[in-house]
Amino acid sequence: MGGALDPVGPVAREMADLWWLMLGLGAAAFAVFLVLLVAALRRRGGIDADEFIPEVRDDQPSRAWIVGGGVIQPLVLVIIVFAATLLAMRAIPDTAESDGLVVEVTGHQWWYEISYPDLGVVTANEIYLPVGRPVELRLNSADVIHSFWIPQLGGKTDMLPDGENVMVLQADEPGSYAGSCAEFCGLQHTRMAITAIAVTPAEFEEWVAVQQGPATEPEGETAVRGQEVFAAANCTECHTIAGTDAQGLEGPALTHFGSRTSIAAGTVPNTTEELASWLADPTLIKEGVDMPAADLDQAELEALVAYLRGLE
Ligand code: CUA
Repeated sequence: MGGALDPVGPVAREMADLWWLMLGLGAAAFAVFLVLLVAALRRRGGIDADEFIPEVRDDQPSRAWIVGGGVIQPLVLVIIVFAATLLAMRAIPDTAESDGLVVEVTGHQWWYEISYPDLGVVTANEIYLPVGRPVELRLNSADVIHSFWIPQLGGKTDMLPDGENVMVLQADEPGSYAGSCAEFCGLQHTRMAITAIAVTPAEFEEWVAVQQGPATEPEGETAVRGQEVFAAANCTECHTIAGTDAQGLEGPALTHFGSRTSIAAGTVPNTTEELASWLADPTLIKEGVDMPAADLDQAELEALVAYLRGLE
């Protein structure tokens, strides 16, 4: 996982540059201080406990050092950092250009609803982005305050229940960029991961075409049985699977669940085994989660897993 100092987009790059400038200036000021400290100690002939009480002298040189080092130098450094910050802020766009892709990200305890309103696509926990194109993220929360943060793409932005925050990001290289909620939001704050998956524009178009389609029909007897289990266990109350009767909105959309890499916002990988454990009792894996345990026998559980895993 790359961090904020390994930027892959213009916003993150501005912020990383600013960080390096501040580190450089801070290190330089500290180095000057160390040199002066050593020089002062040597001039006094070393540290002698009895003598280590500064004499109050009122001569010009010491006053010049105090004013120069204590007032002017910090002021100059602060002005440089302030100016660089203003320049960086100007370079970071706050609204997308006309070809900007709009993505609505809504924080929930503890997952992300991800919607592309212009494309009619709704998914969860994984944001697909075309490389080289600005993406306008409209950040909201359905409950408490969360914070959106994908370090390699940009800084943190709060996701509020009572007002939208907009940030524009762009990924310059294809790849998978990990992020996490950056504002304590309850018991499972640490298990609220998000992944940005940057792909070429052609791959993005392909992904959109798949996402816009309805869920794949269950293949095989077990998966068909799984779809019945899904309805019988009332999973349809909370989850949407496009093209079926499942139109619940409480939980993540599952239309193309099989193509996602993780379960429960990065909590466990999306494998047959993990999915079975998750469905058997989500609270054992993610205590406090809203999703109840499904009261199923082994055969029903296996059928449900087969159905969900098949939703490519
Ligand atoms: Cu959501 Cu912390």
